[in-house]
Amino acid sequence: MEPTETTAASDSSDKSPGDDAYAAHLERSRRVWDRWSDWYGLSESDFEPIRERAIDRLALESGDRVLDIGCGPGVNFAYVREKIGSAGHLVAVDYSPEMVAKARARVDDHGWDNVEVRRADATTVAFDERFDAAIATLSLSVMPDVDSTLETVRRHVAPGSPVAVVDVRPAPSGPARLLNPLIWRFFRWYANWNPEQNVLASLRAVFDECEVVETNLAGVSYTAICRTADSRETRPSGPRDPNR
Ligand SMILES: C[S@@+](CC[C@H](N)C(=O)[O-])C[C@H]1O[C@@H](n2cnc3c(N)ncnc32)[C@H](O)[C@@H]1O
Repeated sequence: MEPTETTAASDSSDKSPGDDAYAAHLERSRRVWDRWSDWYGLSESDFEPIRERAIDRLALESGDRVLDIGCGPGVNFAYVREKIGSAGHLVAVDYSPEMVAKARARVDDHGWDNVEVRRADATTVAFDERFDAAIATLSLSVMPDVDSTLETVRRHVAPGSPVAVVDVRPAPSGPARLLNPLIWRFFRWYANWNPEQNVLASLRAVFDECEVVETNLAGVSYTAICRTADSRETRPSGPRDPNR
């Protein structure tokens, strides 16, 4: 079945951490992304302006703690690091050992001692800290259980903190829909894309607020900003908690 905007988030997954289908998807992701890691540099700048606008929407400040989910070779690091400075902390997670090696090499090359790259499954990873913001660019839709991944993200961001997601989907409307079968197969082959998932529906199910702030490529690419409700304050407009 091709996913649509109306596909229910939680009913659409047949994979959960611990089951065989989940493990098979994760292992295929590892193989696919290990393989593409050598070539990713050829296309990583294609989405750069979209990624940077998504990061701008996080309204990051010096000293912020940021989580990057499915970081690949670290394409977001320089821009996030520019915003949070040397006082901030960027923690990035990726499941592909080859992507992680490339991300760590980027960190070493720049001498960023406040950027940490962890090789982990973003769905089941646990952190000791809570983050002021999170970003997932082109990564959630390749994961086996998006609802569970987003629950993990939700647990690790402070209430009211923004989560920026850039992702792709079949064209939602217009003539580009005719290309959906091709788009679908291409994503599946290229990225181990998960056709049973609807990332936007999952975002809306897991977070209290979620807004699509930008679309590109006939709606195939979108940027969403989500957050949990916070009765005390909501970033970016409110003042920071000095005890965070
Ligand atoms: C299309 S790349 C996106 C990389 C980068 N965020 C970007 O914007 O270009 C997808 C990344 O998600 C990672 N990934 C896939 N499943 C994952 C999982 N369960 N946990 C962590 N990372 C995962 C892959 O290894 C790959 O590096």
